Amino acid sequence: MMDTGRHRSSSPPDDDDDDDGGNRRFPRDWLRRLLMRHAHNHPNMPPDLHDVALVVAPMVDASDLPYRLLTRRYNANLCYTPMIHARMFVDKPGYRRKFWKVGVGTPAEDRPLIVQFCGNDKHVLLSAMKLVENDVDGVDINCGCPQGIARRGRYGAYLMEEDGGDRIVDIVRHLSTNLTVPVCVKLRILPTGIDDSLMLYGRLVDAGASMLAIHGRDRHQRQDATGSADWDAIRRVVDLVGDRVPVLANGGISNMDDVRACLEYTGADGVMSSEAILEYPPLYTETNTRSTNYLRTGPGRLDVASDYLELCRRYPPDDGGQGSGLKCIRAHMHRFLHADMRGNASLRDAVVRTFTMEGAGDVIDMARNIHESCGHDVGDEQLSWYVRHRVGLGGSHDRGGEDEDDDEEERKHGSSKEDDECPCNVFGEVCADDGDY
Ligand SMILES: Cc1cc2nc3c(=O)[nH]c(=O)nc-3n(C[C@H](O)[C@H](O)[C@H](O)COP(=O)(O)O)c2cc1C
Repeated sequence: MMDTGRHRSSSPPDDDDDDDGGNRRFPRDWLRRLLMRHAHNHPNMPPDLHDVALVVAPMVDASDLPYRLLTRRYNANLCYTPMIHARMFVDKPGYRRKFWKVGVGTPAEDRPLIVQFCGNDKHVLLSAMKLVENDVDGVDINCGCPQGIARRGRYGAYLMEEDGGDRIVDIVRHLSTNLTVPVCVKLRILPTGIDDSLMLYGRLVDAGASMLAIHGRDRHQRQDATGSADWDAIRRVVDLVGDRVPVLANGGISNMDDVRACLEYTGADGVMSSEAILEYPPLYTETNTRSTNYLRTGPGRLDVASDYLELCRRYPPDDGGQGSGLKCIRAHMHRFLHADMRGNASLRDAVVRTFTMEGAGDVIDMARNIHESCGHDVGDEQLSWYVRHRVGLGGSHDRGGEDEDDDEEERKHGSSKEDDECPCNVFGEVCADDGDY
């Protein structure tokens, strides 16, 4: 492995850091300082990772408040909210209430937190971000969503291509000039390749971006074409801008072996996980790794599901917690218990028909009975939902042609692969048209 210089962030702050042609107000090590301020919340953090960001990705209807709190118990030291639609957040009080308690913010144990917005109008984005800036540790612009709704709305991954990149550069300059928190951008690789992408990333940093989270795939890499993330590309981003801003590596992180390999290979300041940590929130602990002989040493999935429900009772996701209530809870149960549902149609039906909190508790009881009747051993648990599209990619997650039935079932019940990948339609313009808010 190469020398990546990842620990450049340990060096003392450079007073000249702001003098790089941009209007960024935050020295390069703002992220490391932030993590260190909250390090006492993670007494079990492995010493070699004490100043590394172990990040929960922004996920629509999935990185909701109760879910984030669960991941934070297991070393996740930086979380993103789901993408919030900036214009709806500004214009629609009902939508806003679901997403944020303006003036109150989020519970103290939910920090550090970065709030992600989508949009393509710098004035609207600024208005939305102003409503949260006093209660968060950073804001983020979604430049990653590949869905049709993002293409039509000219946001997400498509925003990177608007006016040859001029629009997103102008947005970042406007926001970083007018906000008091770091302005971050989560980006894909441009369809034209990494060289063009690097030019854009450099311009964003010049314009004042304080952190880049790079999803090492382009917008065509989705659903069955997801493929592996390009860590070489992420390493080039670190080489280009890593001495000026922290860079997060996103894509294909499924356990702590991947975390360490990715950090070493890319030199990034942190890793961001989405699908794998969705299924198993204790992902940032030493479990299912080489050193545990791939055994699960952390809590079993039933305990995870049950703890999540408990947090939902205290922090209902649809009350300022960025989730759509029972729909969000059902989706989490589906992912937590995917391995059990695959072999049991009654359990699958019970999850799909969960319309109350009591019903959600019954699902767990049902799964517990199944485990007891078959002598289930938590040590044998492996990721199941995560690997559903990862057939043929090689590595420990290649389990051969599985899950066609499961996909068919998901389609029937309205949770398609498209929803799974980035279900912007849950909270995007479609909801507005539906009169949901
Ligand atoms: C359910 C779900 C919802 C997502 N929603 C968002 C989102 O709101 N904003 C965003 O930037 N990316 C979103 N993504 C993409 C992830 O943040 C991440 O970039 C992608 O899944 C790749 O990471 P992974 O390989 O660890 O899964 C979503 C992904 C999933 C699975």
